[in-house]
Amino acid sequence: MNFKKNSIFRRDQTVLPSTEQVLHGGVLAVWGSPSSGKTTVATKIAKYLADKKKNVVLVLCDMTAPMLPCICPSSDLECQKSLGSILAAPHVNESLVKYHMITHKKIDYLTILGMLKGENEYSYTPFYETQAKELINSLRKIAPFIIIDCGSYIANDVLSAVALMESDAILRLANCDLKSISYLSSQLSTLQNAGLDFEKQYKCASNIKSNQGIEHMGGAMGGLSFQIPHSPELEQQYLEGNLFDDLTLKDSRDFRREIEKITKEVFG
Ligand SMILES: Nc1ncnc2c1ncn2[C@@H]1O[C@H](COP(=O)(O)OP(=O)(O)O)[C@@H](O)[C@H]1O
Ligand SMILES: [Mg+2]
Repeated sequence: MNFKKNSIFRRDQTVLPSTEQVLHGGVLAVWGSPSSGKTTVATKIAKYLADKKKNVVLVLCDMTAPMLPCICPSSDLECQKSLGSILAAPHVNESLVKYHMITHKKIDYLTILGMLKGENEYSYTPFYETQAKELINSLRKIAPFIIIDCGSYIANDVLSAVALMESDAILRLANCDLKSISYLSSQLSTLQNAGLDFEKQYKCASNIKSNQGIEHMGGAMGGLSFQIPHSPELEQQYLEGNLFDDLTLKDSRDFRREIEKITKEVFG
């Protein structure tokens, strides 16, 4: 008699399906009202993907207040090369972009493009729609995941405006306040006239504090795909210029979950 036949120790040959969701690549533009958390959220999504061993490029569009010096210590970066040098070229191609990509010493799979400390849009020769489009097309060939941290002042910001038009998806952030609603009602008609595909937008309330009426915001924005809560630990990281640090405290749990949810829904 084979005692092993129905043994509880019998080896199960069936392979269990992986619970890990497959993430497909694409270009995500993070855009929204001023100070709504665009840079913060874009950085955290990029970090989430890099931690999952996905090659990701984070593009920081802000040329008025370059964010590269604000998101991590410069000693964490392999080199100091500027996004401005790429856009100043008559034509942008893959090798030019690759040459200027900044790798992070402690986070494999992550590269960053942005303006350097002290620079502004006048530091380089002017660029136009062509260079911005070529940059995004080149990035598509370089890495599967592209996160573009757009500025709010799209009328004067060619790269952000082109990113909104060319991206596969837009995460549209707004704080729960009247200024954000005013911003959106002012800007959305311009984008509609320019032919923006509104279907690719995910509306998102950002940096929500406990005293804020999220239900009013949902009504004002015509529904919300995501609700990103305020995290005091994240606020502290921002003040310290360490946005790539892990969020470890319990009160950051809901924020971390929402970043995961956004990433899986947008790229899943
Ligand atoms: N979820 C959040 N929790 C805590 N602070 C946040 C959150 N989102 C944004 N902030 C804070 O809001 C401010 C603006 O963030 P930032 O990412 O620079 O906005 P934007 O890029 O839209 O101008 C910063 O002080 C940042 O710490
Ligand atoms: Mg910003």
